[in-house]
Amino acid sequence: MSSKTGIPKISIAETLLDTREMLKSPVVVFEKYRKKLGPTFQLRFGIRNTVVTADPELLKHVLKDNNDNYHKSHIQTERFVEFQGIGLTNSHGDYWLRQRKLLSMGFTRGRLSEMLPLQLQVLNDFMHDFDLAVEKGPLDIHDQMVRFTLRSVGKSLFGSQMKEEELEKFAAAIADIQRYIVKKVVQPYLMPWYFLTGQDKKYHKIRKEGDQIIIDYLEERRKKLGEGSDILELILSTPFKGTDEYMTDEKVKVEILQLLVAGNETSTTAATWAFYIMSKHPECITKIRTEIEANFGDEEVNYSRLHSLNYTIAVLDEAMRIYPPFWMIDREAQADDEFKGFKIPKGTTVIPYIYGAHHNKEYWPDPDKFDPSRFDLSLNEKQHPFAHIPFGGGPRVCIGQNMAKMQILLVMSAIIRKYDFELVSKKDIGLHAMMLLKPDGPVNMKFTRVKE
Ligand code: HEM
Repeated sequence: MSSKTGIPKISIAETLLDTREMLKSPVVVFEKYRKKLGPTFQLRFGIRNTVVTADPELLKHVLKDNNDNYHKSHIQTERFVEFQGIGLTNSHGDYWLRQRKLLSMGFTRGRLSEMLPLQLQVLNDFMHDFDLAVEKGPLDIHDQMVRFTLRSVGKSLFGSQMKEEELEKFAAAIADIQRYIVKKVVQPYLMPWYFLTGQDKKYHKIRKEGDQIIIDYLEERRKKLGEGSDILELILSTPFKGTDEYMTDEKVKVEILQLLVAGNETSTTAATWAFYIMSKHPECITKIRTEIEANFGDEEVNYSRLHSLNYTIAVLDEAMRIYPPFWMIDREAQADDEFKGFKIPKGTTVIPYIYGAHHNKEYWPDPDKFDPSRFDLSLNEKQHPFAHIPFGGGPRVCIGQNMAKMQILLVMSAIIRKYDFELVSKKDIGLHAMMLLKPDGPVNMKFTRVKE
């Protein structure tokens, strides 16, 4: 326990001993500390005092009730800005609010419903290739989800006219840059080395090439406004509220890039874990199939009735509880704060530890057990709103959560209607936690056509 803050503390010696494991899989180390000291603990990362919390009450305080005091951390506002510019995901105050208000209009239920035909087109194309691929043998479901979500998220943002090769080139540039940013965050002491070996220059060149793809596309789209229901169409054709001012091309470029970064790999990861967990529980595949048949028969899935798939949605919610794609997020205290006897001095990094909250047994008995009935509201009392936060919480909650859920439910429904599936290896898949919580290797599965 630190006498200054009242928060249980991990000693510097222990964090040093755990450095290697921390670089390999920080979630394993955080779980060890959480089990030893409870849901909120304190440690030192380099020179920074860091408070990690998996307590829904403190999470609510940081992310919602006193969110003005907790800005995104310096990692988001320095490392990411260098390559992504300042946009919705890493700005604050009035600027953030203005961007959020405008961009939210692209993710309303009405807008998503309008987007459904385009989504179904993407899904049908994906299923066509998937049907051919499964005939050749087992598939890595993660690879498949990469293919699906890039097109699904990409076309929702850019519209149907975006060429798939361009989208792939652009996504590859983003992935390269993301890996480089993570390297810089994890090993900041190598910064001079990155500069001297020309890596900074190399990645800025990759970024410029990616930017050019968007700039060229923006020019094309401006000539054809009124032809789509995608997010870019909305941004280009909607002035900021109460003004006739439109977003500049430079800002549009930043926002659309940030949306793709925020929405692509996250959805891929969530869908991959959902398939993994379902393959370990074949009874839930059958139950989902029965639910889809009862709701849609042979008809195409439609947006409004997608919400009636209660059991399927519960499976996805439970998969995201056990494997939240964002296993943690980060904030920085702007002023001294206090919460139930814990002192949080100005400058402290606060880590809302989503994985820890989702495995906190005070809220989730037997937390490692997969049990979708936890999300059956007819069986359970209302859960604490910050005990399950795969999409974050408070005013900065994920803007794309309904879109992500729609896309994942669509692909789950399409595959489960046609196929049973099982893992090729019975060995458990481990966790690879860097920015996102990913499987630590391929998730190979065998798909068998169900009899019609
Ligand atoms: C399963 C998929 C997804 C997961 C798990 C996820 C998770 C999250 C989380 C945890 C946050 C909060 C970050 C924080 O508070 O620091 C967030 C914010 C955000 N997400 Fe998502 N996300 C997903 C899909 C999407 C999609 C599809 C989009 C858009 C295409 C999107 C766009 C955003 C944006 C723009 C923010 C920042 C909002 C703001 O700061 O106002 N996300 N997401």
